[in-house]
Amino acid sequence: MFTKEQQLIASKIHEFCAANELPPAELKWHPIPFSGEWGFSTSFFQVAANEARAGKGNKIPVPKRAQEIAEQVKSQIGSVEGIGHIEAVSGYLNVYFKTSDYATRVVDEVLNAGADFGRGAQKSETVMVEYAQPNTHHSFHIGHARNTILGEALARLVQFAGYETIRASYPGDLGLGVITVMWIYEKFYKGQEPAGVHERGQWLAKLYVEATALLEKQENEIPEQTAQREAYDVERREMYRKWDEGDAEVRELWRTTREWSLEELREVLHMLDVKMDVWFYESEVDEPSKAIVDELIAKDIATDERPQGGAVIVKIDEKLGLTKEKYRTNVLLRSDGTTLYLTKDLALAKVKFEQYHVDRSIYVVDVRQSLHLQQAFAILKLWGFKQAEKCYHLGYGFVSLPEGAMSARRGRVVLFKDVADEAVRRVLAVEAEKSADIPADEREKVAYQIGMGALIYSMLSVDNNKDIVFDINEALSFDGRTAPYIQNAYVRANSILKKSKVENRKSGDLQPLTFDYDLTNHEIELIEKLSRFPQTVEQAANEYRPLVMAAYVYDLANAFHSFYHAVNVLQTEDEKIKHARLMLVMAAKQVIENALRLLGIQAPEVM
Ligand code: ARG
Repeated sequence: MFTKEQQLIASKIHEFCAANELPPAELKWHPIPFSGEWGFSTSFFQVAANEARAGKGNKIPVPKRAQEIAEQVKSQIGSVEGIGHIEAVSGYLNVYFKTSDYATRVVDEVLNAGADFGRGAQKSETVMVEYAQPNTHHSFHIGHARNTILGEALARLVQFAGYETIRASYPGDLGLGVITVMWIYEKFYKGQEPAGVHERGQWLAKLYVEATALLEKQENEIPEQTAQREAYDVERREMYRKWDEGDAEVRELWRTTREWSLEELREVLHMLDVKMDVWFYESEVDEPSKAIVDELIAKDIATDERPQGGAVIVKIDEKLGLTKEKYRTNVLLRSDGTTLYLTKDLALAKVKFEQYHVDRSIYVVDVRQSLHLQQAFAILKLWGFKQAEKCYHLGYGFVSLPEGAMSARRGRVVLFKDVADEAVRRVLAVEAEKSADIPADEREKVAYQIGMGALIYSMLSVDNNKDIVFDINEALSFDGRTAPYIQNAYVRANSILKKSKVENRKSGDLQPLTFDYDLTNHEIELIEKLSRFPQTVEQAANEYRPLVMAAYVYDLANAFHSFYHAVNVLQTEDEKIKHARLMLVMAAKQVIENALRLLGIQAPEVM
């Protein structure tokens, strides 16, 4: 926002350093919170330290030398247009603005940039974010929802920060779990098919639970049961073998049922407003991963113990020369030549970097798969795959229920679709009572925005490393740190503007914008929050932490609610001040909307 001034001052500093033979150092700017004025600052400790390291600077202690440089720089700069005054204090150069100028520029810039306010300059790097990658033949539960919501928010942040961004999914669509569902379907349910995309997808998960119960050894089972169970297992394994062989019928059954799952997944992603760019599947990297194993054997990174009836393994720790156990020994091919989850991840990484030319690859995956991913990255490194170090695992904690862990095997899961429907239903019931003046179809849209918003925010307002005990009542309670509280700030801003008939900049642009009056603390707080949005985008994107943005937008909403209670915008007598306040409200509305959008949450016009 103040880049012009910052650049101007930076160039004067560089001139000064060059003229005085000071070693260059990167300048970092920090905002100065309001204390009668706003400003930004930079320090000279790095310059002084570099100088000392180079054996110059006459052995003056670094802090003292930093202050000397700050003073010299200050006098060199002189006065700069737009800047109130400059101070050299304790090694820092503090640059201050006239309060009115600063406020005007913040609000002006927000309104001019609109939906683009806070967008980072275009970067040359391409970043791939992989998320929303559940296994097929299962259903999408709230653990998957946490993954998807986190991944989408990250993708939005990275993209808005200026990186070319590719969204990728990677469903696991093969393996014994998949075959288990196909087996029971073929045996007991062939030809059946529930109506409805969600119903059909979820049905497969029910079949899986049923199959598991049939195939699992029971306590005190009688010999007939044992025989039955074992016979079922033989059938299931036979089906797996046929699948592997490419048997036409089994493949057809696989394709059909897989599509049922994927269709449900696409619907869920649609509900969450996620638009995937690329779909990878485990089944598609299965063959390519075998070729990588051959290479690893040829390079003596992997050991082929199949001739002795064993598997293909890689002793990662030994190959890396580690003395302590870290990555352990891993199987890459079973004795029958089939690949493992780990094997396929090697091929996936290669595709990501070589076909999609990404510079960085982020994996949003359950923290319990941390070792798995570290192993994959380590093997890639051993293989000589340079981009291995450009792979990053963004883990997230476990989602459990108040009654304990979820279990897909036991059918004890909370489905995302059920929670989302329930959320919208509850909001609609409240709205029907409290906001009867909103037309029915709009009420439904608003209920959807609020219900989904509540759900999404409940997942993003917790640090990704922390576990979540998912309690639907809590997620939908609208008190405290929740999306509805934030959305309500947006709605209030909107309603002030509506009442004033100044709904956009143009309709209010009758007079020049100036904050040349005694600002209340509430206005100061609000302006300061608005000015911090661009750097919040940058921080959240660089640290891969949507939580930073979630916390920010709550604070912003909070500042707006306080302002709303304390300052009566519409009753302001002085026309100039009233105009400034309306523009501030408009700017707040815009930034709340921008911040929510980056989290994947919509802002309703009314509620
Ligand atoms: N499908 C896996 C699961 O449901 C997650 C995939 C994670 N991504 C990866 N590249 N391994 O656990």
